[in-house]
Amino acid sequence: MSLEVKVATLNLRHPVMNASGVLGDTPGSITRLVKLGVSAVVTKTITSNPREGFNPPTIVKLPTGGLINAVGLTNPGKEAIKELTRAAKVLGVPIIISVAGRNTSEFVEVSGEAWRAGADALELNLSCPHAKGYGIELGADPRKVKEVVEAVTSTTSLPVLVKLGLSDKVIESAGKALEAGADSLVLINTIKAMCIDVYTLRPILAATYGGLSGPPIHPIAVRVVYDVYREYGADIIGVGGVSDWVTAAEFIVAGAKAVQIGTALINSDNVIREILEGLRKWLQYHNVKDVSELVGAAHKR
Ligand SMILES: Cc1cc2nc3c(=O)[nH]c(=O)nc-3n(C[C@H](O)[C@H](O)[C@H](O)COP(=O)(O)O)c2cc1C
Repeated sequence: MSLEVKVATLNLRHPVMNASGVLGDTPGSITRLVKLGVSAVVTKTITSNPREGFNPPTIVKLPTGGLINAVGLTNPGKEAIKELTRAAKVLGVPIIISVAGRNTSEFVEVSGEAWRAGADALELNLSCPHAKGYGIELGADPRKVKEVVEAVTSTTSLPVLVKLGLSDKVIESAGKALEAGADSLVLINTIKAMCIDVYTLRPILAATYGGLSGPPIHPIAVRVVYDVYREYGADIIGVGGVSDWVTAAEFIVAGAKAVQIGTALINSDNVIREILEGLRKWLQYHNVKDVSELVGAAHKR
C-alpha cells in the first residue's frame, strides 16, 4: 500500500506537508516540522527584505475552532533562504520556498535567491489577505497572476506552485497560472475576516482585519479544489481546515494530490501521524494500493 505522491515533479513519501506560515521560518523550526512528520517543508512566506509584521494582538482563537491571524508577513527576508534550505537538506526533506513580493520584480528576485540556494520548489503566495499590496489583490487579478507566474517560470527552472486565495476570480486565476507554466496550484489561503470586542467596541486585531483559518474554512476550500480540478484536471495541493484523516481524504477525492496543514499543527503534535494512519486504513477500505487512485474520485461517477 502506497501513500507516495508526485506533486509538481517532487516525489514525496506521503501527501502531507505543513502550510506556509506555521513553523518554517528558522532552521530550528524546520527540524521541528520534520519531527512532526511532514513529507516536504514549506517555509514562511519570504520577501526581499525582512518584515516585522503587525503589532499584537496578531492571532485570535475562535470558539468555532478556527483562528483569525494578522501576522503581517513577518519574515527574515531573502538572506535567510540559504540557511533554511541547508537545514532541510541535512534532514533529507524537500524544501519549498514560499515567496511574495509587492511587484513582479520582487517575486523574481526572491525566487532567484531560492533557486541559487538549491531549494526544491517555489510556492508563489498570491493570496495573503491582510498584508496590503502583497497578496490577495494579485491573486484576484488573472492578468497579474499570469504576469508574475510567467516572469518566475521564465527565469528559474524550479517547479512552481501557485497559491491562490478565495475570490470571485479564483477559477480564472488558476487557469492563467497554469497557462503561465505553474506546475501545481495550492488552494486556498486564509479568508479575510475580523472580530470585534463588544466591551471595548474595537476590532480585536491591531490590524483590524485578518485571515480566517482552520475548520470553518474547510468546506469552502474543498469547493474551490473541486471546481478547479473539474475545470483543468490540474495538479492541486488542498489547504484549509485539515485537522484529521477525513478532512485530508476529502481534499484528495475533490482532486488534490497532497494537503497542507496550518492551524491543526499549532494545536497538535500528533496530527500528521494520525492522518497517515487513517489514510492507510482508508486505502484498505476502498481496496486500492495507491492513494493516487483516489485523487479526484468524487468526479468519477
Ligand atoms: C499564523 C499563520 C500564519 C500564516 N502565514 C502564512 C504565510 O506566511 N504565507 C502563506 O502563504 N500562508 C500563510 N498562512 C495561511 C496558511 O498557509 C493556510 O493557507 C491557511 O491557514 C489555511 O490552512 P489551515 O486551515 O490548515 O490553517 C498562515 C496561517 C496562519 C494561521
